Amino acid sequence: MTERTLVLIKPDGVARGLVGEIISRIERKGLRIVALDLRTATDEVARGHYAEHEDKPFFGSLLEFITSGPLVAAVLEGPRAIAAFRQLAGGTDPVEKAATGSIRADLALETQNNLVHGSDSPESAQREIALWFPGLT
Ligand code: CMP
Repeated sequence: MTERTLVLIKPDGVARGLVGEIISRIERKGLRIVALDLRTATDEVARGHYAEHEDKPFFGSLLEFITSGPLVAAVLEGPRAIAAFRQLAGGTDPVEKAATGSIRADLALETQNNLVHGSDSPESAQREIALWFPGLT
């Protein structure tokens, strides 16, 4: 079933010059890019995006990180796009959880600065796409 997912290449990925590497992996997997934008997240969008984490001890640090510089926001489309991108990304902790060969396992060390975000469910994808790309139909 064709679905869409919201992906972020976080500020660490942009700062480290890994945008091309990450987009290349997305394209090689066969996912289609339907929206792509380099921008610095506002505090409001960052809070909306990470609303489910607002009670976590790392929330303040996460907001600071995600608004710290330009990131790439994208919408990807394809069969099982949500699970497909999460497979490409690997688990949240790049060392303990991400599978060998994934973006996080190959390219990241820290749980916060883990290079990418991908929606975790169809409901999250719908909410996150509306938040980052309100004009997209
Ligand atoms: P992401 O997939 O974008 O979803 C929530 C983000 O919070 C996660 O990636 C990490 O960047 C960050 N995060 C999750 N758990 C922790 C943690 N224990 N410490 C610091 N940051 C975390």
